[in-house]
Amino acid sequence: MTADQLHPIPLWVDAYVTQIHGADTPPPAALTLKLNHTRQVAANAREIAQQLDWPAHAVRLGEALGWLHDVGRFAQFAEFGHYHDATSFNHGWRGTEIVADAGLLASLSAISQACLLDGIRHHNAKTLPAEIAASSLPYLKLIRDADKLDIFRVVIEGLERDGFQELAAMWPHIDLHGPINPRLLQDIRAHQQADLLHVRSLADFLVLQASWMHTLNYAPTAHLAQERGVLDTLAAYLPGDPAADNFMNEMRDVLAQQARRTLSTAGIAHAG
Ligand SMILES: [Fe+2]
Repeated sequence: MTADQLHPIPLWVDAYVTQIHGADTPPPAALTLKLNHTRQVAANAREIAQQLDWPAHAVRLGEALGWLHDVGRFAQFAEFGHYHDATSFNHGWRGTEIVADAGLLASLSAISQACLLDGIRHHNAKTLPAEIAASSLPYLKLIRDADKLDIFRVVIEGLERDGFQELAAMWPHIDLHGPINPRLLQDIRAHQQADLLHVRSLADFLVLQASWMHTLNYAPTAHLAQERGVLDTLAAYLPGDPAADNFMNEMRDVLAQQARRTLSTAGIAHAG
């Protein structure tokens, strides 16, 4: 992707959001927050790709994916007034349709178009899909890392603002003061991930966030999570008991291991 091909993409996203809510009134806070998330994820994707030493065309493609990954969210909010996939639609799939239909990618090579569309489609999948083009995979890994880094930011800002009261508004069944569900720790230790069904308290949610350290794909993402003090902040809001302390120490080790991974440019050979 050239600089001239990247340039219109953020402008298109802004125009799309304006078109969705109308030009006469300022956008609602929920849309502004999502637009800010989009901007941060694009910046994270660029930063991680640069630290991976990807060539400039690939860094631009990664940044473009950051701009486009959550386009489905804007349509979701316009149609349903919330961001809950289970009661509306899969925002990754819808985003793919919106971007494909907009004709925004017409000047890109077929491979670059596929990298963007595959990345949008699967950025929010529970795990990396088994069947995906080898050329799309590095970008999918990039967007998933860039997205998680910004979700850490959102959670940390919420914790520091008011103990993340927002979580109770999003998930009414959540107990902001409840203990850690031992089942959650067991599952994470056994499978490196856990089911949202076992998340009943804010502490559970923070444990789940910490467990994402297992899923980071690239060393620079782990470095950035270390630099931003993600685990220390999450730990500060967990109950000070031995089970929580032990778990967070395990996650610190996992994050340190992830940060020591070898840098890789595999799959970034194509031009365009
Ligand atoms: Fe998303």
